[in-house]
Amino acid sequence: MHTLGIINQRISANKFAPDTSLSHTVIEELVACATQAPSSFNQQHWRFVAITEPQDKERLKAVAYGQQKVIDAAVTFIVLGDLLAHTKLAETLGRSVKAGIIDQAVVDGMVGMAGQMYANPAAQRDEAIRSASLAAMTLMLAAEAKGLVSGPMIGFDPEGVKREFQISERYLPVMLLAVGYPAPGNWPRKVRLSVSEVLTYGTGESLA
Ligand SMILES: Cc1cc2nc3c(=O)[nH]c(=O)nc-3n(C[C@H](O)[C@H](O)[C@H](O)COP(=O)(O)O)c2cc1C
Repeated sequence: MHTLGIINQRISANKFAPDTSLSHTVIEELVACATQAPSSFNQQHWRFVAITEPQDKERLKAVAYGQQKVIDAAVTFIVLGDLLAHTKLAETLGRSVKAGIIDQAVVDGMVGMAGQMYANPAAQRDEAIRSASLAAMTLMLAAEAKGLVSGPMIGFDPEGVKREFQISERYLPVMLLAVGYPAPGNWPRKVRLSVSEVLTYGTGESLA
């Protein structure tokens, strides 16, 4: 389907067909699409923990305020953001040097700039959330293109998720993202604010 059709038909699913699964191949294709998202300096803060096994789903549900979709969806991704992505930027960008896309001198400049920009924990956190969110949105569109549905969630206890799934302090749980086959009962797309309410030209003054 055309990209615009996929964007316009996607819903945030709440009801997933239980007892269904996705192969590791499909899960990895979805993540491969997610990693095509852009990120600041191409830092690629996103990481994914795929929860597919019944006992793991139960543990995730317990730290996700009992949300049943965590059990029913074929997979729920714990979408993480790397708070220290800037510290490995030389290596990350080195791959594009090797591929002949950018010069080492450009990388050296970017590494220097990123070191300054992300010295501050608030900036690290902002960027981790931004990158992981762009990856999550890309994954949702990829899922839709594959005939699947998805449901993003912020209804979880981040410390509980880190504890239950051995996630280090370096990674920020940004959202849970359930993906699978729909069950009956999902709401249609909810009503959006109109373009004239969210778009202005040249100034934000009228947004007050
Ligand atoms: C960051 C984020 C967190 C969300 N958290 C939850 C959640 O914890 N539980 C839930 O049922 N829906 C959650 N939602 C789904 C929203 O309610 C849904 O995207 C919104 O109502 C629009 O739905 P629609 O895209 O189907 O129109 C979340 C959505 C986003 C983007």
